[in-house]
Amino acid sequence: MITKQTIDKIMEATDIAEVIGDFVQLKKRGANFIGLSPFANEKTPSFTVSPTKGIFKDFSTGKGGSAVTFLMEHEKFTYPEALKWLAKKYNIEVEELHDKPQNIEAENRRENLMVVTSYAAKFFQEAMWDTAEGKSIGLSYFKERGFTTEIIKKFELGYSPDNWEAFTSSAISKGYRPEFLEESGLSVKRDNGTLYDRYRGRVMFPIHGFTGRVIAFGGRTLKTDKKVPKYVNSPESEIYHKSNVLYGLFFAKKGIRDEDNCYLVEGYADVLSVHQAGIENVVASSGTSLTVEQIRLIGRFTKNITILYDGDAAGIKAAIRGLDLILEEGMNVRVVTFPDGHDPDSYVREVGSTAFKSYIDQNKKDFILFKTSILLKEAGNDPIRRADVIREIVESIAKIPDSIKASVFIRECSHQLQIDERVLLTELNKMRLGKAKKDNPQQSSSSAPAGYEEMPPPDDPAFLAAMYGEEAVGTKPEADTTIPQEREVVRLLLLYGNRIINWDNIANTYIGPFMIAELSDVEFDNPACKAFVDIYKQQVENGVLPEEQFFIHHPDKQIVDMTVDLLTTRYTLSENWYEMHRIYVSDETDNMKATILGAIFHLKKHKVAKLLDKLRTDLQNAQNETDQDILMGQYLQMKKIEKYISDYLGSVILK
Ligand code: CTP
Ligand code: MN
Repeated sequence: MITKQTIDKIMEATDIAEVIGDFVQLKKRGANFIGLSPFANEKTPSFTVSPTKGIFKDFSTGKGGSAVTFLMEHEKFTYPEALKWLAKKYNIEVEELHDKPQNIEAENRRENLMVVTSYAAKFFQEAMWDTAEGKSIGLSYFKERGFTTEIIKKFELGYSPDNWEAFTSSAISKGYRPEFLEESGLSVKRDNGTLYDRYRGRVMFPIHGFTGRVIAFGGRTLKTDKKVPKYVNSPESEIYHKSNVLYGLFFAKKGIRDEDNCYLVEGYADVLSVHQAGIENVVASSGTSLTVEQIRLIGRFTKNITILYDGDAAGIKAAIRGLDLILEEGMNVRVVTFPDGHDPDSYVREVGSTAFKSYIDQNKKDFILFKTSILLKEAGNDPIRRADVIREIVESIAKIPDSIKASVFIRECSHQLQIDERVLLTELNKMRLGKAKKDNPQQSSSSAPAGYEEMPPPDDPAFLAAMYGEEAVGTKPEADTTIPQEREVVRLLLLYGNRIINWDNIANTYIGPFMIAELSDVEFDNPACKAFVDIYKQQVENGVLPEEQFFIHHPDKQIVDMTVDLLTTRYTLSENWYEMHRIYVSDETDNMKATILGAIFHLKKHKVAKLLDKLRTDLQNAQNETDQDILMGQYLQMKKIEKYISDYLGSVILK
């Protein structure tokens, strides 16, 4: 956990306009900045940044928040990733609290390793651009392959001198510790304990992590000698877990989001060529088969993956292997193969970017159909092998979590395989049943196991909520639970909580604690309002009056969202009730007492009205006279309270 002090330092240093300016073109407009929404396609700018408040608001999508929430929304960072990104930008040292001392040490080691890899990236770049050897060997290789200066600089490509110790000795002389040189894999230890360079005479591809820092390298040989490995890659380390990384993702994020699709290729060179051709939503699995972690990384941005692989047998096999994995994650997969002998890199260079794009559009096949046709071709007319193909295809379809989508594939495959749809469906249900049993062994013993059809589709909101808690239910309409009276109270707490009351009989109290005390008997129904008031109360109990900034930078996203919303939209409730009571004030602060007490008692009135409603229904359904009497007593009591509140409201407003 990042310490409060560090978070405070980060917040203090952060200039939201500067941060957002890294991603969105902003223009100054009065005290604010405006620009085109990065979350929607728009022609007139509705995206506003307020540097004084430290917030942004996107009026076309309703998104809003702090610099941190912007990074979380736009870059899909987690909360700590966003904080660390800002810390890096503003040169702030990050202090973390760890439950165990080993964790501090691990964190320091990771940081040290990243410092080393970032030094190495700079070293290899300088060795390429500023030395005779680098220019004539490394740079000219890239240029010959058709890479532009722009792309070479963007991906920070470099060259490692053909020398046993060029990098290691430079790093040691700069004070980098041997243990980190070794652990990062940049240097290798000899038997006598001295270090030598792992990469010699290779062109260097730095691999960037999710937040853009260099975490590893791939070095390609320039020799054609078959005995020399073509690529030497960084070993696994504390900062580089190959299975969690996709080459090029850092540079592809924006493109993936804009296009709502991610192209997946095999190699470094493919990423560079395709990117250079103007197709920036491209990443590479770097020659290994895809992992679930990699798929989930892509899934933060899009549900659509288009695999661009070589047309050769190995490429196709690799594609098929990755596919089932992607299906299980509920993503949509399409496959494009290239004419024999071509990979995306060679093909885009041969035909140019326009023809490349239209080739993709014309040749992309949905994966199940792709797989079916490949396997059928392999099986030929052999009936036993055809049966295997059918089973394998249905197995893939069974991995699709969305049952509607799955049944569409069943239909299409029944055509392709020339087999009755019902036969495939029966097979599908058998498999899903088997899978359900495996996932949920307790149920399997029951004599009548639940059929697959009875399982709710996994993207059903109710099902997700039950499985993962409320958070998973992204699509639930917010408006349903918004209660204007609750929101109004929160708005006043937020805006005026730290003002001093000087009303006739109450003086020298702050509005915040006063309101909290007055609201102690109110149950909030809206989760965000409830959370807000609870947090406010907690702070007050700790002797602190939380300010706007406290809520703007709160780690709970629903709090930030509501805060920004309240700070950027005009109040909804009070305007109406001012009018209702025929009071025209130029500003709600003109009559603070009416504003505050009015809001509190309107909320109470709303709650009482709700209770009265419930009591009325209960009365209608009451089974016997005793119940009726009790309910009636409660009802009359509530009515009295309601009248009291109404009278009070009237008197407050009139005074
Ligand atoms: N790869 C590797 N080690 C190897 C060969 C390949 O790690 N010995 C990985 C690299 O990430 C490489 C990818 O697999 O980018 C695809 O391999 P390949 O197509 O051979 O490499 P390209 O990058 O396309 O290289 P080039 O076009 O320069 O031949
Ligand atoms: Mn290649």
